[in-house]
Amino acid sequence: MSTSKDILFTPTSLGALKLPNRFVMAPLTRSRAGSDMVPSPFAKTYYQQRAEAGLIIAEATNISPQARGYAFTPGIFTDAQEAGWREITDTVHQAGGRIVLQLWHVGRISHPSLQPEGQLPVAPSAVAPSGPTSTESGMQDMVTPRALRTDEIPGIIEDYRNAAARARRAGFDGVEVHSANCYLLDQFLRDTTNQRTDQYGGSVENRTRLTLEATQAVIDEWGADRVGIRLSPVTRAIGQTPTDSHPVETYGYLVDRLSDMKLAYLHCVEGQTRGSRTEDGFDFVSLRRRFSGSYIANNGYSFEDAAAILNDGTADAVAFGRPFIGNPDLVERARIGAPLVDAPESSYYMGGAEGYIDFPKLSG
Ligand code: PHB
Repeated sequence: MSTSKDILFTPTSLGALKLPNRFVMAPLTRSRAGSDMVPSPFAKTYYQQRAEAGLIIAEATNISPQARGYAFTPGIFTDAQEAGWREITDTVHQAGGRIVLQLWHVGRISHPSLQPEGQLPVAPSAVAPSGPTSTESGMQDMVTPRALRTDEIPGIIEDYRNAAARARRAGFDGVEVHSANCYLLDQFLRDTTNQRTDQYGGSVENRTRLTLEATQAVIDEWGADRVGIRLSPVTRAIGQTPTDSHPVETYGYLVDRLSDMKLAYLHCVEGQTRGSRTEDGFDFVSLRRRFSGSYIANNGYSFEDAAAILNDGTADAVAFGRPFIGNPDLVERARIGAPLVDAPESSYYMGGAEGYIDFPKLSG
């Protein structure tokens, strides 16, 4: 296996997206939006500073008021939110970059104080997650969600469609469907969180239906070659959510169907989100082989390991998350072998410009 790092700096295509290098900025929740879910006024500087990435996947963004699970996360369902994102995409494009938006519904990973009229968060089934989430008045324990009625599901698919249409009007280069990390779509995929008896629960075909219908709605707005999807078959990180009992079969079937849809890319969190790339016996190379499009690998890759999987053809690009927080010029630092800044975790979430747009580049 060749490990020359040169490949990191070569161009590639993910569907219609043309990347000048193989560094993808992973979607990173930074919790700096307003209570109205309009992106932070500092966000355009933050993303512009990172425009050298082959592709920026902007932070997970709520598709509806009900989709929100953390304070100060942005949305893409009002005119003001769309206008806020337009400034960001214009700035990134002027800086020579490319940016897609990650479309998010958290499902049960929420709290009534984050929901319209203080209602219960919704989920496939009334199964409680474990632990707290961040609300506007601090960390609060999550609650048992309300199971969605079958007749509410078309409305959720419409929310994906409308958010995708707004993302297009906001000037993004594409969108990523967030079907990972134990949020709504992933809650439907897993037989542990999905105990439904309608056409959205039970068999693998039924549990994958919502992800596939939401993805199709997004494709209807964008064309498949500008739509990617993120999956995380083994993570338990968010809400201490148990994995599906048969992840190889469930996510394998899903990837076969997504492959038929000719999506731009498949993006996997390999291992534990917010943690490390322990694969828990899951074979990501086999999953990747079932997909006809491009593959973005993610989760704590060193530049050496990233180059190795690019050189052997396992991946087409590698998403780096935490390293992009402290190193806006991550691509340049990798090119010249400069040391990396380890951003303190206290800078990850909430606050203003500090710990957000004040990490310097090597050259001014
Ligand atoms: C997080 O806030 O840590 C977070 C948000 C979205 C994800 C994963 C983690 O998909």
